[in-house]
Amino acid sequence: MNKEYLVFIDSGVGGISTLAVLLKQNKFNVLYFADNKYAPYGNLSRKQIQNRLKTIISRLKTNIKPFGFVFACNTATTSSISFIRKNFPGEIFIGTEPAVNLVFKLGYKKPLLIATPQTIKQIKSRKTLFCLSLESFAKNIESFMTNKTVYNSYKILKDILYIKRHVKGCDSLILGCTHYALIKPIIEKHIQIPMLDGNNGVAREISRKFGSKAKPNTNKASVQFIFSKDSAPLKEIYKKILNQILANQINLC
Ligand code: DGL
Repeated sequence: MNKEYLVFIDSGVGGISTLAVLLKQNKFNVLYFADNKYAPYGNLSRKQIQNRLKTIISRLKTNIKPFGFVFACNTATTSSISFIRKNFPGEIFIGTEPAVNLVFKLGYKKPLLIATPQTIKQIKSRKTLFCLSLESFAKNIESFMTNKTVYNSYKILKDILYIKRHVKGCDSLILGCTHYALIKPIIEKHIQIPMLDGNNGVAREISRKFGSKAKPNTNKASVQFIFSKDSAPLKEIYKKILNQILANQINLC
């Protein structure tokens, strides 16, 4: 591989929501690593996630020498980014995080943060921040996005109705997992409340840090998907999801 790569890491499909926002601003050569063998990250311990990310980064660093890494995963960022930065001082890591500061800056008073159990553990408690830890929502979204059966649709609908019960009395909803951002249009059909995620902020930061590595806008971005297990059917599915978002067939804004 002689290209210069920006590496995206998530446990699965969620990071595509971050990647799509970035590619609408700037084109890069991206290598997207989906760690589906260890998914969902949100139900692992902090130490397990840290060790796993350390292994992935050591391997990718040796094999492809990326110019930067993006944790397109709130769970990876909140549990591990400081640890990883300490272990790889020569590398640049940017990570997506729940948009907690942004939501208060925008003047909302009673936001509800929904995220994986591990992310919720890492978020410093603030008096007016309500948190809802969701055990299997990310996993159910992964199944739904990669295989739209009636049963998989039913499972995400059940999760959304559970969130709806808890959001009563709140004035906004923070989507604290990149998987959730991917089905924002579906959540919005059932819950009418302002929703925020960290994807725009992280895309801006990537463009600021790595702008010089961006390809001219006339060129197409090149994105390669790699997986830690069963990559054959998933590669095409992930590509299709990214292209649908880029073509505005799925609207995440
Ligand atoms: N997409 C991820 C996040 O933003 C992780 C989901 C999971 O593997 O639990 O937290």
